[in-house]
Amino acid sequence: MALKVGVLISGRGSNLKALLDDLARPNAPARIVRVIANNPDAGGLAHAIAAGVPASAIDHRTFDGRATFDAALTAALAEAEVELICLAGFMRVLGDGFIDRWSGRLLNIHPSLLPAYRGLEPHARAISDGVSESGCTVHAVTSELDGGPIIAQRRVPVFTDDTPDSLAARILVHEHLLYPHVVRGIAEGSMRVPRG
Ligand code: GRF
Repeated sequence: MALKVGVLISGRGSNLKALLDDLARPNAPARIVRVIANNPDAGGLAHAIAAGVPASAIDHRTFDGRATFDAALTAALAEAEVELICLAGFMRVLGDGFIDRWSGRLLNIHPSLLPAYRGLEPHARAISDGVSESGCTVHAVTSELDGGPIIAQRRVPVFTDDTPDSLAARILVHEHLLYPHVVRGIAEGSMRVPRG
């Protein structure tokens, strides 16, 4: 039985698309069963709908606080019998209750070589520091922002004439390879999600 994956997005959803495409291949060990955006305008919802995957927005602005929003997310994910959650450009901070509920089953991808450049604008900060290498990281989610145990990374060079956009584009190619690789590894049992 393929591992049932849920993906949470906020925007264009290129990582979601990479996961959808990879896991649509024959005999994939995992499949995406539910996509949720916190923002009804998230372009990535269209990728899921085109792939025939149940997808909808749960708009955080319509809830009276984080706990009720998180509870609605959990209800939708549980309803779809999700076994692994991938945050893919999901721009809401999740509460401790949600993180505890899904501990060991909750992943994020971040465009830096964590623990370097947690949080916002990692590309610009890497460039302004003059580093020669950056990359992307898939990690387990804990209550520490971008601070959970690292599962896998891919590295890219940083060039002296890079802009945040050129570096982001170079890293994104690797994100699209790394995230499916990790989801497959977890589904096949060769990788695991540390509990933090
Ligand atoms: C990616 O760079 C991801 O690492 C970061 O947000 C961006 C999302 O891009 N967390 P996309 O929506 O998957 O295209």
